[in-house]
Amino acid sequence: MTIVSPSLLSADFADLKSDVAMINRSDADWLHIDVMDGVFVPNISFGFPILKSINPILKKKLDVHLMIVEPQKFIPELSALNTHIMNVHYEVCPHLHRVVQQIKDAGMLPAVTLNPATPVSVLEDILPDLHMVLLMSVNPGFGGQKFITHTLSKCARLRKMIDDAGLHTLIEIDGGVNVQTGQQLVEVGADVLVAGSAVFGADSPEEMISTLHQLHR
Ligand code: DX5
Ligand code: ZN
Repeated sequence: MTIVSPSLLSADFADLKSDVAMINRSDADWLHIDVMDGVFVPNISFGFPILKSINPILKKKLDVHLMIVEPQKFIPELSALNTHIMNVHYEVCPHLHRVVQQIKDAGMLPAVTLNPATPVSVLEDILPDLHMVLLMSVNPGFGGQKFITHTLSKCARLRKMIDDAGLHTLIEIDGGVNVQTGQQLVEVGADVLVAGSAVFGADSPEEMISTLHQLHR
């Protein structure tokens, strides 16, 4: 079984209640939340008011992906929302070790996200402290982009790093994930698939989530 984290970015913001109800009914394990600041990435998505509105009706765990500078500023807000996993980008955290400890101290699971051009080797010293690594398979900022195939060999390298170190760190992949790329990713060791347009653009989003959930090596 593959952990599936549908991305709310591709939902219908005029009818979020229906989309959250669909996620609740589905086999989704988590809900992926893309927060953008227009500084780290060239787009702005949504922020805490939206999260506060959906939180009482959501039955899945929050997988929050912060595409923002200084993500540590928002640890209290995310912790108060009962966030399960807080993903911060490697590229914006010069004091990553401190941020990871602060996330843990606030009762959340820490994850570090790498842009397509950032090599997995930068994680060598922080890996034992992480619950998950999120590999971007598109340049962050927009849904509906084409999967960067280089992510497959990158994922395989990260899988080897984790296994060689005897760790249980999860690998999540985000961007351009569909049934085809999802299958390829699972074969090279991905544990968690984020899917935005593949889910919300499907004739049956619930069936698409089930199909992704059933992918295996
Ligand atoms: C992109 C976001 C993704 C996005 C994925 O910056 O981090 O989570 O929603 O969308 P798809 O699955 O359409 O590529
Ligand atoms: Zn994301």
